[in-house]
Amino acid sequence: MVKMLQCLVVLVSLVVSVHGLDNGLALTPPMGWMSWERFRCNIDCKNQPNDCIGEKLFMDMADRMVEDGFKDAGYEYVNIDDCWASKERDSAGKLQADPDRFPSGIKKLADYVHSRGLKLGIYNDFGTKTCGGYPGSLGHLEVDAKTFAEWGVDMLKMDGCYADVKTMPQGYPNMTKALNATGRPILFSCSWPDYERASKIQPDYKLIAKNCNIWRNYIDIQDSWDSVLKIIDYYAQEQDTLAAVSAPGSFNDPDMLIIGDFSLSVEQAKAQMAMWSILAAPMLMSNDLRTISPEFREILLNKEVIQINQDPSGKMGKRVMQSGNVEVWSRELGFLDEYALAFLNRGTEGTPLNFTVQLKDLGLRPGIYFLIEIFEDKDIDDFDTDSYFSTVITPNGVSFIHAYPSQFYNSV
Ligand SMILES: *[C@@H]1O[C@H](CO)[C@@H](O)[C@H](O)[C@H]1NC(C)=O
Ligand SMILES: *[C@@H]1O[C@H](CO)[C@@H](O)[C@H](O)[C@H]1NC(C)=O
Repeated sequence: MVKMLQCLVVLVSLVVSVHGLDNGLALTPPMGWMSWERFRCNIDCKNQPNDCIGEKLFMDMADRMVEDGFKDAGYEYVNIDDCWASKERDSAGKLQADPDRFPSGIKKLADYVHSRGLKLGIYNDFGTKTCGGYPGSLGHLEVDAKTFAEWGVDMLKMDGCYADVKTMPQGYPNMTKALNATGRPILFSCSWPDYERASKIQPDYKLIAKNCNIWRNYIDIQDSWDSVLKIIDYYAQEQDTLAAVSAPGSFNDPDMLIIGDFSLSVEQAKAQMAMWSILAAPMLMSNDLRTISPEFREILLNKEVIQINQDPSGKMGKRVMQSGNVEVWSRELGFLDEYALAFLNRGTEGTPLNFTVQLKDLGLRPGIYFLIEIFEDKDIDDFDTDSYFSTVITPNGVSFIHAYPSQFYNSV
């Protein structure tokens, strides 16, 4: 079942204001693929030619994104993380790719990715060295911004290892200016608030949102459910601060999707996908798209979840209820009382639990709703917020509901 907004309502709701970095990018959370979580700093292309940080990996992933439906679903960026560079700058002081692992160079790789209708992201570091020990950008911000623009790069993640954290509120905006001065729109991902948090400095999120399209707040995701839960807990703890700055052009980044890697079960994968959509998070997969199994691919391609993630309001959801092992998260969607509700069961008792609640207790505006249980593909028509709503949640899993206000929607 598809719900369509009535035309009149669409006209009223078209105005979206952008408060974030004014480069026209990331009006909805960016979607794509990134090498770090799954492939790390594996530079052993001699022995592991398919799994090392080299041009083949990124070309393979671009191919899979196009041919296996990811591009059509909205995944767009192919992002190189750390360990791509040569240990030395060239004679003109420019960064250069490792010549053995990227024999064609980054410009050629960008051309290839563009030829497939996708965009290329790259990585640098604000300090003297990257976290992996490659050349940093301190003192080279302008030349590095120009180099990336000349290569045709579309997104930049700037990390913060080997740096003086106190200079970041000045230094990151310097890079924002340097990127802007190139004339090429480059989506800017900042690690700045994560380093401030780690140094017990309160991030100035207004300033961050003015200078970055997306930003990391918290520690790197690892390949484990425990890591996913830790990130969710951090977001719950900081939700008022973080939700206040989530908007078109500027999004909190809880780090990559690890769906299809070694650790998450199918139910846990659904939970990460649902929660990242509730959080209006960038959807950057870090997995091996060449070998991913169909059940994980299907989760990553779920249209209704992606639609929620990409909601044009750009609002971040919040935890609205905790009850035993269940926590309920709610995100306002659209501009007219539409919601996504994630019922997350953190329990490990081996049987699905039945959870019952009145929707009015979850902050929904009182009224009649049409509900879709997304992963079960079940609909409930004409549901009153005063009625008791019951849903079954698997252990370490989620029940994910899209609630449309009946008065504004027609079934088609
Ligand atoms: C930022 O740029 C200003 C103006 O060019 C400069 O004075 C300052 O040192 C820079 N700060 C950092 C941390 O890069
Ligand atoms: C540079 O900044 C100006 C003013 O904020 C903005 O209008 C323009 O689109 C930006 N250009 C790029 C390439 O980011």
